[in-house]
Amino acid sequence: MSNSPISTLGVLGAGQMGGGIAQVAAMAGINVKVFDSFPGALDKCKAVHAKSLAKLVEKAKLTKDAADAAAARISFVASLDQLTGCDWVVEAVIEDVRVKKDLLAKLAAMYPSDDVVLATNTSSISITDLATAAGSTAHRVVGMHFFNPVPLMQLVEVIPGIQTSPAVVERTIALATAMGKTPLRANDRAGFISNRVLMPMINEAFYAWMEGVAEPQAIDGIMKLGCNFPMGPLRLADFIGLDTCVHIMNVLADGLNNDRYRACPLLKQLVIAGRLGDKTGRGVFEYPAK
Ligand code: CAA
Repeated sequence: MSNSPISTLGVLGAGQMGGGIAQVAAMAGINVKVFDSFPGALDKCKAVHAKSLAKLVEKAKLTKDAADAAAARISFVASLDQLTGCDWVVEAVIEDVRVKKDLLAKLAAMYPSDDVVLATNTSSISITDLATAAGSTAHRVVGMHFFNPVPLMQLVEVIPGIQTSPAVVERTIALATAMGKTPLRANDRAGFISNRVLMPMINEAFYAWMEGVAEPQAIDGIMKLGCNFPMGPLRLADFIGLDTCVHIMNVLADGLNNDRYRACPLLKQLVIAGRLGDKTGRGVFEYPAK
């Protein structure tokens, strides 16, 4: 039986984040509709769900019946018009302000009732700016920032834009809690808290490598063993995607109007060379299996 404050969640984007959000919602008893128009994205998402649910069963964090029930709650649609009947929508598409605004405007038109919250999983783009896409219902747009891998990470960073109503913030906190997460609030400043603090640390690790202070294995080993990080900053950068790291540094530098947030030249060079991390099989480190 679900304690969820909503019955059907729409998720835009079937990538790592959208897929993870869909899975966690379904595990919490919420029906989920996932939309992605990219060919192959939905099949890939289903396969990732099957693998992740099987792993949680193997680790006795979920029963087989609960895993099957969660998978059965998720449906997939390849066209936005089919994303009907949702009482909450979260977008987790590419970190491009124009793409996100275009989709939020379409969602606001599809769902004229402001009872339907439009949440964005952006990692750093201004919620206040994104909310303008919803026009006169900007007060129902809110930042709901999950962390990768979503099924394992505890946090949801909740970010109200200037227009977001207090009631929507409270509902977001309630939904994140019902999804088994811990919601924590941050204000709408570039990078919020998570990436304001995390990304400059990752960027500094690239500077340390570029300046020859230590090799990547030593940089990561020092931070893992000395600071108890589960992954070193360079391994984490590969996991997040080096292109995403550059993008977030650009948002910090522009949004906080301070050049100390500029991406390290070596980090930018790796991106130019196509070494984006896990997703391309090589970033700072190599991942031959991928
Ligand atoms: N679903 C289910 N199980 C999963 C999983 C998933 N999505 N992903 C990994 N697991 C499993 C693994 O298969 C593994 O199982 P086994 O022990 O049976 O092999 C288990 O979880 C533990 O994984 P690992 O042994 O590989 O490694 P670990 O103990 O280090 O845990 C981790 C993995 C949770 C990812 C951990 O390394 C970690 O916390 N890393 C840091 C992650 C982090 O910082 N994420 C935030 C990134 S920033 C972000 O997302 C936001 C942004 O805006 C950029």
